[in-house]
Amino acid sequence: MRIDEGLQRLVQGAARVAVLTGAGVSAESGVPTFREARSGFWERFDPEELATPEAFARNPRKVWAWYTQRREQARRAEPSPAHRALAQWEQLLEWCCVVTQNVDGLHQRAGSSHVIELHGNIHRDRRFEADTAPAEDLDGLPRCPETGALLRPDVVWFGERLPEGALEAAKEAMRSADLVLSVGTSALVQPAASLPLEALERDIPVVEINREPTPLTPVADWVLQGEAGEILPQLVTAAGSGAKRAG
Ligand code: OAD
Repeated sequence: MRIDEGLQRLVQGAARVAVLTGAGVSAESGVPTFREARSGFWERFDPEELATPEAFARNPRKVWAWYTQRREQARRAEPSPAHRALAQWEQLLEWCCVVTQNVDGLHQRAGSSHVIELHGNIHRDRRFEADTAPAEDLDGLPRCPETGALLRPDVVWFGERLPEGALEAAKEAMRSADLVLSVGTSALVQPAASLPLEALERDIPVVEINREPTPLTPVADWVLQGEAGEILPQLVTAAGSGAKRAG
């Protein structure tokens, strides 16, 4: 991968950067993605049985078992070179916002301080609210210590709304950046997938980094095909070398 002169100028001139990230940035930390052939979660598991409120109401034990395993996997994982490069870039910028679809908390652990979590955080619980009580025997499942209410992982499931305010904050980040990146996301899940379009509509340049083409690829201003953990560190080095020259 070569960073051409135009892109180099762009990253060197950028002061406000918004980055949309997906499972691809955590892939190099050993956290599986969702849709990739063979390794993707949704290639091996049925989201209808694990990632909807109806699935939880039907069988909370099964859903908890899966999320407990994923939670452990995320806890054991270390931030990847991609996570670290974004945290390092923040140090060179006036403002840097990471808008992530990931629930693993690895951006924060790498040191990014301004992270919008669109799909929640797998390490947190919240109260399960449903019209009908879960049918199954609930003994031993996590409960609120104060009220006794059944708890669920604080992630967004299919058919659910994003956390209060997260989408508006993410749109605002895209609109107020002078450079937007989309990294390691298949750009298939809405509303996250549309966020870079907020920038494109305002003529804010969009750079995509992905192993494979996505629906964003034809409209992005720059497409860097390859591993996020290789490309992002190079991009940040390019941005930093500009800062040094300017100083
Ligand atoms: P996907 O699994 O849909 O896409 C992962 C993307 O990362 C693919 O386009 C890969 O080509 C790319 N990729 C994988 N490894 C990479 C690497 N090392 N470097 C660069 N690119 C790489 O994951 P998301 O787009 O994050 O939602 O999926 C979006 C949402 O769908 C998830 O947040 C999750 C899922 O259902 C919920 O759970 C609500």
